[in-house]
Amino acid sequence: MKFFIDTADIAEIRDLADTGLIDGVTTNPSLVAKTGRNFLETIAEICSIVPGPVSAEVAATDFQTMLAEGRHLAKIATNVTVKVPLTPAGLKTCRVLRSEGTMVNVTLCFSAAQALLAAKAGASFISPFVGRLDDIGQTGMDLIADIVAMYRQYPSIETEVLVASIRSPLHVVAAAKLGAHVGTFPGSVLRQMYGHPLTDKGLATFVSDWAKTGQSIL
Ligand code: E4P
Repeated sequence: MKFFIDTADIAEIRDLADTGLIDGVTTNPSLVAKTGRNFLETIAEICSIVPGPVSAEVAATDFQTMLAEGRHLAKIATNVTVKVPLTPAGLKTCRVLRSEGTMVNVTLCFSAAQALLAAKAGASFISPFVGRLDDIGQTGMDLIADIVAMYRQYPSIETEVLVASIRSPLHVVAAAKLGAHVGTFPGSVLRQMYGHPLTDKGLATFVSDWAKTGQSIL
């Protein structure tokens, strides 16, 4: 499973890229607004730090402007993945951008039917939002199970399932068990994934027992 980091914060991206565990980055207008920085410059900087796909979302909602924005974003770097919403105009934009060789991430997916449309439109990634479904009392992970099962029936579908709106390590593990291709989550979730109290306790014991040997490896 590929790990994408869901942030537009450059310092955070640099820090996490250093772990060697990051395969890509996703941003959205809300994450960009949080930084208070110039969007195009931010995307260019992220693309220079992380070689994998970097999602940059269009702002327009009509086809012509969305396409123009997508083409503009795609020129920033070869690893830019243009993010479009799951609307008729978004999927039309997806199809054109894909025919031009640009990677496209179709976002704001909340149903299996929508995911099927995104695959038909040739999306590189479909982003179902599990956390936001959980927030309204539905089981977000059920949607991932449906999409993965549905795509598996058609080996010609190349669209990768990018599980978005992940809120905890449990979401990451559940998505991995279902065979989702990618999970995108904030750095806080990645940091939580390292932790286990028995790891801390075990390490403390090993460090103190090693000190008792009076030896040094180097
Ligand atoms: C990523 O592509 C999505 O925009 C993001 O995961 C949404 O997460 P949220 O529901 O926590 O805002």
